[in-house]
Amino acid sequence: MKLIHISDIHLVAKGRLFGLDPAPRFAAAIDSINAEHGDAELVIISGDLADEGEVAAYELLRDMLADLRVPHRLMLGNHDRRANFYSVFPDYVRDENGFVQEAIDRNGIRLLLIDTLSEPDAGELCERRLAWIAARLEEARDLPTYLFMHHPPFSISHPMMDRHMLRNPAPFAALAAGHPQIHHLFFGHVHRPLGGSWQRIPISTLPAINHQVALDLRDLPGISGHDGDGAYNVVFIEPERTIVHLHDFMTKHRAFDLDDPVAQRG
Ligand SMILES: [Fe+2]
Repeated sequence: MKLIHISDIHLVAKGRLFGLDPAPRFAAAIDSINAEHGDAELVIISGDLADEGEVAAYELLRDMLADLRVPHRLMLGNHDRRANFYSVFPDYVRDENGFVQEAIDRNGIRLLLIDTLSEPDAGELCERRLAWIAARLEEARDLPTYLFMHHPPFSISHPMMDRHMLRNPAPFAALAAGHPQIHHLFFGHVHRPLGGSWQRIPISTLPAINHQVALDLRDLPGISGHDGDGAYNVVFIEPERTIVHLHDFMTKHRAFDLDDPVAQRG
């Protein structure tokens, strides 16, 4: 299964954000996916769809997604507003408690898309969401399972971002520990590329579409950011392997053939 992981678009209804315009950056991502990865089965956008959760920003998102030729799924982050999201996407999937969560079963695997938004601006998994996650994990213990969530449930050893992690990671950590069918955890929120593992579960995330978080590991009051290019991940999933390619689609490179002797000496 080939899928595209995008995160943290931060669309705004009007104006700019940190001197950047998120909409053309997201449009460039859509163009890149259509041109280069139209064979992907799914695009998953893991939250912070709208920077301030305004209705007009979700309307912009809806209109822009009409150009994306690969099926997509949406998730919420701490910048989103659930009611405004549903006012623009009234028929979008919701669990029995009204959270934007779903299990997608295909090709012998399960994708679990988890809603970590705690309004107005935090990440949390309440009892009802934890119960939903537990039920989805319990009913399909034999299905290789891939988790998607906006907030990572662990420290990323980045003090400024660690202040904004999931508020209550312990019950989720216990759930994950009890379900060895979990093969990978994909997340957003940190606006940086990184990989590793947590509780022996491989993890990956990626730059945002709009603004980035710097590799500044001091413990300063704010969050050090920059206007670096956006990127998305191209992901290949089979039960026995997961491959994650970072695609810096906005960055202009000079192309050459590594086997071309002329290019080697140029
Ligand atoms: Fe974000």
